[in-house]
Amino acid sequence: MAIDKMEQSLRPPELEMKPYPAKIITLANGEEMIVRQAKREEVGVILGTIQPLIGVQKDFYDIVAARMYAEVLGWYEYRVANEFVLIGSIDGEIAGIVTSRLVDGKEGVSLHTMTIKRGLRVGAQLFAAKMEHHIDILGNDEVHIVAESPIGFKRWMIEYALEDRSAQFPALRHELGGVPTFTLTRKLWENIRADKCTGTRPVPPVKLAKADKLKMPTEYPQIPGFKRG
Ligand SMILES: CC(C)(COP(=O)(O)OP(=O)(O)OC[C@H]1O[C@@H](n2cnc3c(N)ncnc32)[C@H](O)[C@@H]1OP(=O)(O)O)[C@@H](O)C(=O)NCCC(=O)NCCS
Repeated sequence: MAIDKMEQSLRPPELEMKPYPAKIITLANGEEMIVRQAKREEVGVILGTIQPLIGVQKDFYDIVAARMYAEVLGWYEYRVANEFVLIGSIDGEIAGIVTSRLVDGKEGVSLHTMTIKRGLRVGAQLFAAKMEHHIDILGNDEVHIVAESPIGFKRWMIEYALEDRSAQFPALRHELGGVPTFTLTRKLWENIRADKCTGTRPVPPVKLAKADKLKMPTEYPQIPGFKRG
């Protein structure tokens, strides 16, 4: 078998997934963040944004960045089934990233959420956009979620009052290492959507055009002294 044919046969089967419709969110400091789906040709700028955070041994950035790097690469190389990546950008500069995937048409598995620009609830907004994509756009009935950091636990498990499925379904284990699984159900989402999920559509074309040219951050609050040339 030719190598390229063999490579293609290694790809997981993909569900057809509707694209995430871009939206615009006004953050607490008045800046506007555009949330939209990442495009395959943007893999370089996304990986370049994540890479410096692999070395940050604070707030679990290292493990989340290392895992997210692998997820984005896995998405690009067709090594993860039904994955999507959403990006939050401010003036085109990446402010946060989320990754996720579908098991099937009913179940979603939330992978990671990472904020680059801190203090504005960028991650909270992007996590809500990820849940919006799973349930409202892709039609999932539930999304399984784990926390890899105490801040993540506070943001998702506590602030969403997610269902702890670990006692009821001990066999249900999220694929990120088998830690106890929490679940966002459609019913729970419907009760909290208005509170958690903000933003407006459509995004004015001029603003969308700016967000179309993604840039890596020049500075990271997590890495004092970092300057990208
Ligand atoms: C978890 C995460 C996505 C939440 O993002 P967010 O909603 O944008 O929130 P921030 O990171 O800006 O702030 C979270 C908390 O950190 C603190 N914080 C805010 N700015 C900070 C800064 N510049 N430096 C350190 N801590 C800061 C605040 O206490 C804040 O808590 P509060 O707003 O609930 O009072 C983000 O903290 C992150 O990427 N963490 C590392 C990776 C991770 O843990 N991902 C989740 C895996 S489950």
